[in-house]
Amino acid sequence: MAANKPLLRVLNGEALSTTPVWLMRQAGRYLTEYKQTRLKARSFLDLCYNPKLAAEVTLQPIRRFHFDAAIIFSDILVVPDAFGQKVDFESGEGPRLQPIIGADDLKALRETIDLDHLSPVFEAIQLVKQALPAKTALIGFCGAPWTVASYMIAGRGTPDQAPARLFAYRNPDIFAALIERLIEGSVVYLSRQIEAGADCIQIFDSWAGALAPAEFERWALDPVRRIIAALRIRHPRTKIIAFPRGAGLALAGYAAQTGTDALGLDTSVDPASAAAVIPSNVVLQGNLDPLALIAGGEPLGEAVAKIQAGFRGRPHIFNLGHGILPETPLDNVEALLALLRPEA
Ligand code: CP3
Repeated sequence: MAANKPLLRVLNGEALSTTPVWLMRQAGRYLTEYKQTRLKARSFLDLCYNPKLAAEVTLQPIRRFHFDAAIIFSDILVVPDAFGQKVDFESGEGPRLQPIIGADDLKALRETIDLDHLSPVFEAIQLVKQALPAKTALIGFCGAPWTVASYMIAGRGTPDQAPARLFAYRNPDIFAALIERLIEGSVVYLSRQIEAGADCIQIFDSWAGALAPAEFERWALDPVRRIIAALRIRHPRTKIIAFPRGAGLALAGYAAQTGTDALGLDTSVDPASAAAVIPSNVVLQGNLDPLALIAGGEPLGEAVAKIQAGFRGRPHIFNLGHGILPETPLDNVEALLALLRPEA
């Protein structure tokens, strides 16, 4: 059954003539129906922890656009929340956490992740799984340890994650201990998502590109390698997509050393160049500029054609190079799908 889902066929190494497509952040504020449902929850985190509402917003983009995959509606910052670090989302301002400043703050957190706290996510996965069309894959996810830790240290979004980068230089032992907990927590969290019904997994390392090379290796690449190795033991058949945004020249080595099945490419990567240097057994996903999708028209057509040409002949999953933006016109998403599915 699973083998009939186009996204899983590609993740298993098939190059399909009609490329499967989903969009990062496809459930979100560009959809009027999302904004409606969002009003029913007191806060963004309440929405994430309400299985019925989370399942509903996960399904909204599938009903409207028939994407090849649904991604469970949640956030990477439910993990710090489940380690006991209080997380809030202030509307329009992004996440706020009680920042980790020293060893005492780490001691105040739980040693292990509280999976009971995350049970609404697993329930939402079960609800979505029952409701999805047979051809639609369900993606589970988490943030990579480095990206999650960067928010835990800064306590908020920053332009370049300088607080966490500096913290890691000054306090490598404390930082390593935090990363260690996040590796272990991510493995059990992802395992439970798979057991609840996730067909495959994406690991978001949105801030990988902020790290200098040696730190990239230590804090971004190696933790993801270890998560993947541990997941392979528990769930050997479940395919994994890693998204090390901004990894640039490190991409090919990252793919080889982490052992990921697929690599999500960000907007900055030239498709043909990536296809030339990344080992051919690695499936590629990406990488339309979210702003080209806002622009629509000719720039959108040209950008899509370039991506299709660059990945031709290789197993490829069409996606954006980063999350869809709230300003995106719904008609442009329709136009994108018409370009990708000419016979539909
Ligand atoms: O892709 C999907 O549709 C699934 C849901 C999803 C969300 N966040 C929902 C969300 C996923 C996969 C994420 C991942 C995530 N969250 C990342 C990694 C991917 C990336 O974009 O780089 C990061 C860094 C976060 C942390 C986060 N969550 C930030 C910095 C913010 C604030 C910025 C913003 O876009 O508002 C969020 C909030 C958030 N997560 C929203 C949504 C739909 C918007 C809040 C709202 O609707 O009120």
